[in-house]
Amino acid sequence: MTSTPQPPPVHDLVGIGFGPSNVALAIGLLEQRRRAAADPAVPALTGVFHERQPEFGWHRGMLLDDATMQVSFLKDLVTTRNPASDFGFLSYLHSVGRLHDFINHKTLFPLRAEFHAYLAWCAGRVADQVRYSSEVVGVEPVRDSAGRISQLDVIARAPDGSRHRSRGRNIVFAPGLTPRLPEGARLSERVWHNEYLLQSLERIGPGARPRGFVVVGAGQSAAEVVEHLYRRFPGAQVHAVFSRFGYSPSDDSPFANRIFDPDAVDAFYGASAETKAGIMDYHRNTNYSVVDPDLIDTLYQAAYQDKVKGTERLRFHNTSRVAGVSEGPDGVTVTVEDLASGKQTPVAADYLVYATGYRPGDPRDLLGDLAEHVVCDAGGRCAVQRDYRLATTDEITCGIYLQGGTEHTHGISSSLLSNVAVRVGEILDAISARTAEPAGTAESAAPTGAPAEAAAR
Ligand code: FDA
Ligand code: NAP
Repeated sequence: MTSTPQPPPVHDLVGIGFGPSNVALAIGLLEQRRRAAADPAVPALTGVFHERQPEFGWHRGMLLDDATMQVSFLKDLVTTRNPASDFGFLSYLHSVGRLHDFINHKTLFPLRAEFHAYLAWCAGRVADQVRYSSEVVGVEPVRDSAGRISQLDVIARAPDGSRHRSRGRNIVFAPGLTPRLPEGARLSERVWHNEYLLQSLERIGPGARPRGFVVVGAGQSAAEVVEHLYRRFPGAQVHAVFSRFGYSPSDDSPFANRIFDPDAVDAFYGASAETKAGIMDYHRNTNYSVVDPDLIDTLYQAAYQDKVKGTERLRFHNTSRVAGVSEGPDGVTVTVEDLASGKQTPVAADYLVYATGYRPGDPRDLLGDLAEHVVCDAGGRCAVQRDYRLATTDEITCGIYLQGGTEHTHGISSSLLSNVAVRVGEILDAISARTAEPAGTAESAAPTGAPAEAAAR
């Protein structure tokens, strides 16, 4: 007797990446299902997420001992959307018995390590929705009987090379940021990006006694790396190379901070291209190429104390750039050019760390042939609707949503935690509303692809 093939499971959404953005979305899904159990008008949406790391991790390479959050803990994964949620940072503190200790601490900015533990606690409570060690390598269309793309198959690869596909009526991209290097720079055993700092330091071994480091950049990452290396290796010189005259402080003042509010997304979204550019120019210093003022003071104090002692281990090559790098078996020689005088100085070091920032992911990289259906603006960037749905041609009727990579449309909070909780609510509302639509929905699709959640080619 031949068995009839089972219809493939189709999720309401398939998530790419399981960092804070999509963990928040998984929590939103769970909370919505709880509401749906009591109210039939609320759709009980289902989702599955793919994460390439073997377990939850939030920029682990930069979990430096003293690094603190750059955003208030109240902007956790839920509170600004649902202050009554049991997934808030305070619920986490309560569950680990630290709530009163934290209150006495009188800070809005916990250690990154503690917030990492909070995020991992959240991820653990929605672990049934995620597949770890699962790297998404492509997205394929599933056409309905009218020939339109009403569902998508997300293709993911496991470490053993096997592939799986998950089928969704919607997909939500949240792949985070990608380390950015200066043109021509190449990573190696001795040349690193700060994103992998702690893993790189682990590789050189606990007994290593490096003599010198060069750190390029003047943002928060660069300043944290300089301070960490200086403190961790008392025998090493740390050379900071940057084009500014000095580190610039981040603007964390209350009026400027309003740029991270949900209302600011509305204002930015509706603004002309010229106004958008103006807002970004005015307020870049709330986030980019800036350093927490306390850390600037810490670095200055360390440099001054060294000067008093006559042991200058911290060297600031300001108004400078890297003009060349030559790597040998024993170290790197970095040619540092003073932009004011043009003078070039060779600096010998064991390791060179580029703390030169990040760039957002582009969903088109994974969409393959589907990318031709994405609507672009005059600058070739993806057009995105207010509800974070990628604008596409009518041939695609399913939803492709973005968490991140929307700075050009939704403003500066796009890559940050500030607005994650509210954004997730907006995306879920949009998907719920489309799920309730009667005609042309994904439910009517007659999929032509391979079974979902099945081994893929
Ligand atoms: P995030 O990058 O965290 O997660 C994306 C996930 O997707 C990763 O786990 C990745 O492995 C996975 N992934 C990517 N491609 C994949 C694929 N093809 N298949 C499967 N999985 C894939 N912001 C802020 O507001 N306050 C702060 O204090 C900080 N602090 C901070 C420190 C450092 C060192 C950095 C570099 C950045 C910050 N940020 C920040 C900004 C940061 O972008 C933000 O905190 C979140 O990480 C954004 O969460 P996401 O989930 O969007 O991306
Ligand atoms: P960033 O703010 O973009 O700073 C990048 C730095 O690299 C800038 O100083 C920039 O120069 C320099 N740079 C860029 N390209 C260069 C090139 N080709 N050659 C030489 N220098 C170059 O990046 P970031 O410091 O990594 O910060 C990114 C985000 O992560 C921010 O949101 C930040 O708040 C966050 N972060 C948070 C923490 C924390 O929570 N504790 C820690 C680290 C990072 P210019 O000065 O000329 O612009």
